[in-house]
Amino acid sequence: GCDVGEQVRSLASEVEQAVSEAMAAALPTELADQDPLVRRSGHADFQSNIALSIARKAGQKPHDLAGQLRSRLAEVPWMKSVELSGPGFLNITLADTAIVNQLVQRSEQAKLGVQEGQRDQVVTVDYSAPNIAKEMHVGHLRSTLIGDALVRVLGFLGAEVIRQNHVGDWGTQFGMLIQYIFEHPEEGWRNTEVDQDGHEDATSAPDALYRAARAEFDADEAFKERAQRRVVALQSGDEETVTAWHDIVEESAAAFQKIYDRLGVLLDENDLAGESRYNPLLDDVVEELQRKGIVEESDGALVVFFDDILGPSGDRVPLLVRKRDGGYGYGATDLATIRYRLQDLKATRALYVVDARQAQHFDMIFRVARRAGWLTGQDVEHVQFGTVLGSDGKPFKTRSGGTVKLADLLDDALRRAREIVTEKEPDISAADLEDIAETASVGAVKYAELSTVRTKDYAFDVDRMVSFNGATGVYLQYMHTRIKSIQRKAVETGVGEARFDAGLALEPQERALSLLIDEFADTLEVVAKTLEPHRLAGYLYGLARAFSEFYEACPVLKADSDEVRASRLALCELTARTLAQGLDLLGTTAPERM
Ligand code: ARG
Repeated sequence: GCDVGEQVRSLASEVEQAVSEAMAAALPTELADQDPLVRRSGHADFQSNIALSIARKAGQKPHDLAGQLRSRLAEVPWMKSVELSGPGFLNITLADTAIVNQLVQRSEQAKLGVQEGQRDQVVTVDYSAPNIAKEMHVGHLRSTLIGDALVRVLGFLGAEVIRQNHVGDWGTQFGMLIQYIFEHPEEGWRNTEVDQDGHEDATSAPDALYRAARAEFDADEAFKERAQRRVVALQSGDEETVTAWHDIVEESAAAFQKIYDRLGVLLDENDLAGESRYNPLLDDVVEELQRKGIVEESDGALVVFFDDILGPSGDRVPLLVRKRDGGYGYGATDLATIRYRLQDLKATRALYVVDARQAQHFDMIFRVARRAGWLTGQDVEHVQFGTVLGSDGKPFKTRSGGTVKLADLLDDALRRAREIVTEKEPDISAADLEDIAETASVGAVKYAELSTVRTKDYAFDVDRMVSFNGATGVYLQYMHTRIKSIQRKAVETGVGEARFDAGLALEPQERALSLLIDEFADTLEVVAKTLEPHRLAGYLYGLARAFSEFYEACPVLKADSDEVRASRLALCELTARTLAQGLDLLGTTAPERM
């Protein structure tokens, strides 16, 4: 069958358990029951400074306590040595066989021994969510890439993931857009243009429509009134108006899909669950909140107040649920999304990957959900991210102050990637160049995003992103191709056999690389918990560096014996698999050559 394989516990967690057991034997329960503070170390494979941290409470000298723990750990058969250093550090070195056996087990599993620890979870992930008839901007790019990485990681760990693309497809602006189209039938607003790189110019046409309609709306009082009547017609289901609305939504969504395809993100039309989907639910949601006494009337509107959410003047800031004119907005819609996701989709975890500037909105939504009794034991989280800045440190804009088109950004990265690939390999064929440049540029943009701490602002700098040096997507892809080329060469010269050998002693660089490979599963668990893809991105960079240090110090093809070569080739293979799997979880391709 499609056996994904069994979980392989990491050596780090085995060491933790061993230290915990030593603590349990040497100390009273209340002291033994805490994090054994095991870390990787430059002095040994692992170090624990638990003795220093709890000696006082235990009424012992750190050195004495460490000595007691040490004598218990000395009996663990898979540890080569346990030493005391400084005032009470425990330096733990594992037996080489234990490390190699660990790699053997991981290499035998399709999922590299990663446990499907999220199997009981149903996770809704609200991400991307651009606005219909507007340009998708860099903020949406962040949401799209972060959301997609989380979807992949949680799915890999066995969760049932439900993608929700909450596009902005409803609101009074549609009255203005539709009215404008009806009055200017001669002005084409659909996407037909093709830009200089051969990519269809994705969202620009609807965006141009938006700007033209807006200008007329602001300048012409009579048009404004007709636009407002058109809103009423749309809301009451007038046929030709609804048809026009559908057209606009479809056209825009198709343009977004082109960007998704180009980026290689998982979103497709089945994931569209825009604002308009919730219209039929709004009356009922609000009625329930009224019945439960959660909303109150204020100036004819329906709102929810929170005693500790105050504005600059000290007044309570309301969540607007229904406007005075009876219309619903963004607040009501998100009350409906959360009720729907928790109650109908039965989410155990509901994630909203949205700009940090909407923190107060989600705080309010989650609190109402709790008061209403929809949110009980589930986990709901606003997965926030910071603002994308230009090189001037201000929010990213074009020179004229407009939003930068995503397609243009990707084209920029593509051009830069072509340049640097040609520099490295002047004789490359045109077709290969195109292929590699596309893979490298998308990988570069994604890695730059996903290696950044998500809550931070960051500067968009294409030159830095598309570079072979430093922590970049291109560097990681390149390291993968280097390993692949070593493997190819081994096969071509008839020495392709790859096999770990638990009888061989490990060089320090082999050891470091092996222990890092073993951390992959734990890293994914941390990402699932913290929802921070940069931890995986950083891990992969460390892995690539460790491989490069290994390769410099330990000859593979020219190894001293057949056994050593085979074992190093096995290490190469497992490194490549781990790297490729990790890149895939970041939504990035690991090419065979570049
Ligand atoms: N369309 C919104 C925007 O561009 C983001 C929607 C996020 N999702 C949500 N459920 N509110 O800002």
